[in-house]
Amino acid sequence: MPFFNVDKLSISFGGLKALQDISFNVDKGEIFAIIGPNGAGKTTLFNCINGIYKPDSGSVLFKEKKMHGKKPDKIARLGLARTFQNIELFSHMNTMENIMLGRHIYIKTGIFHGATMWGRRSYAGKEEITHRRKVEEIIDFLDLQSVRNKFVGGLPYGTQKLIELGRALALEPELLLLDEPCAGMNSEEKQDMIFWIKDIQDELGITMLLIEHDMNMVMDISDRILVLNFGKSITEGTPQEVQRHPEVLKAYLGEDETVGHDS
Ligand SMILES: Nc1ncnc2c1ncn2[C@@H]1O[C@H](COP(=O)(O)OP(=O)(O)OP(=O)(O)O)[C@@H](O)[C@H]1O
Ligand SMILES: [Mg+2]
Repeated sequence: MPFFNVDKLSISFGGLKALQDISFNVDKGEIFAIIGPNGAGKTTLFNCINGIYKPDSGSVLFKEKKMHGKKPDKIARLGLARTFQNIELFSHMNTMENIMLGRHIYIKTGIFHGATMWGRRSYAGKEEITHRRKVEEIIDFLDLQSVRNKFVGGLPYGTQKLIELGRALALEPELLLLDEPCAGMNSEEKQDMIFWIKDIQDELGITMLLIEHDMNMVMDISDRILVLNFGKSITEGTPQEVQRHPEVLKAYLGEDETVGHDS
């Protein structure tokens, strides 16, 4: 049984078939990319996988457990985290606090309640120490020490995207969904993000699904790639296989290096 399996997944919005019979497997430890032009259905696929949308038909299995039809927080508890196409951080909270929010599935006594119990050896105090330790580990891992106490709203865009990644890691996921982690970044920020994604694969062994428009990046870091167009799967394979596929060349790669990227 594959680590992660999507089988004949379909969803429509009114008359629009946003996804039609999408099937693929992902092995543990892989970076599996999903590419395709704007409106192809990539984010919709993520929304079906993490429970924001309920697919009309088909199945999503993670380590043989059924995920389709479950609510997002239930799915998060099964070990799945994601980042969003647009930054969704709390701009008036600092880096630590934003990353701490990723611990929500583990927190039993209220996020900052423990702070008032500090030093009292209470259950809440001990729980908070554990969560803070985990958050500190992530801050160290992503090299965010210099901004740990800064409000995220005033930080550079690339740093905010990295903090979002940190928040997803705080969930200690086994499967991480990244929706355009490099969108809107300058080339230096992109290089940094590519480095972190590789590091997450190598050091933490986390399996990733990655939506990305930048073809250089996709070809560089993906183990396998699924190509969508108009809600349908065109092909799936290694970067070398996908690059040569005639339909991909026609539908996607033919025009430019980074195609149809307006987000
Ligand atoms: N909740 C919704 N209601 C109606 N239509 C939707 C909804 N969500 C997505 N769609 C439509 O489904 C299609 C696929 O959208 P989706 O956001 O998945 O594209 P995408 O591949 O992520 O594109 P992009 O590269 O621009 O992010 C689009 O035509 C979109 O308008
Ligand atoms: Mg999208």
